[in-house]
Amino acid sequence: MENEQLLPLISRVVHVATAIVLVGGSVFMRFALMPAAEELGQAEHDGLRERVLGRWRRFVHGGIALLLLSGLYNYLAVMRPAHQGDGPYHMLVGIKMLLALVLFFLASALVGRSQALKGLRDKARRTLVVMIALAALIVAISGYLKIGSVPRTSGEAETAMVIGFWDRVA
Ligand code: HEM
Repeated sequence: MENEQLLPLISRVVHVATAIVLVGGSVFMRFALMPAAEELGQAEHDGLRERVLGRWRRFVHGGIALLLLSGLYNYLAVMRPAHQGDGPYHMLVGIKMLLALVLFFLASALVGRSQALKGLRDKARRTLVVMIALAALIVAISGYLKIGSVPRTSGEAETAMVIGFWDRVA
């Protein structure tokens, strides 16, 4: 493996591993912890929720930072040059980023303390289902970007640029 491939590899591993932890944690919370915690008394339930959210909050904030850093690096430094002239690829990455920002907003609201976003916490079960659906869509788009949209070789990219140049001149 070449030296210059090390950073893209680390960034990819960090990106996918962080997504696994955050999405897995959300699924666990919604479909295992919440139903089990319903059997507790109100005081016990509230105490458990505070303790769980106190710990999970750090994962959410750190995870969002890692996903943003690794995702932007992956796109701007690695994938954008490899997909020059591939409009649908960049459109799908744009859609993915917008969906990710909505997901980050909901995840932050759920572990946050802002009174303005209390409604999302009061309906935490529904908020989590929306988050999990968004995450599934984001992972599907990411998989398609990897498999369905083959990067141009540098030769093809150069040809596409030259053709584009002459199209503009003509
Ligand atoms: C603004 C935030 C994000 C950016 C800029 C971003 C960007 C990227 C890029 C450029 C790739 C490589 C695509 C390719 O191989 O052509 C990628 C892969 C991936 N992303 Fe993201 N991403 C972001 C957020 C997320 C989130 C929130 C999730 C999970 C919920 C996620 C899950 C994945 C997965 C699983 C892959 C690997 C796909 C595969 O190799 O099959 N990403 N991301």
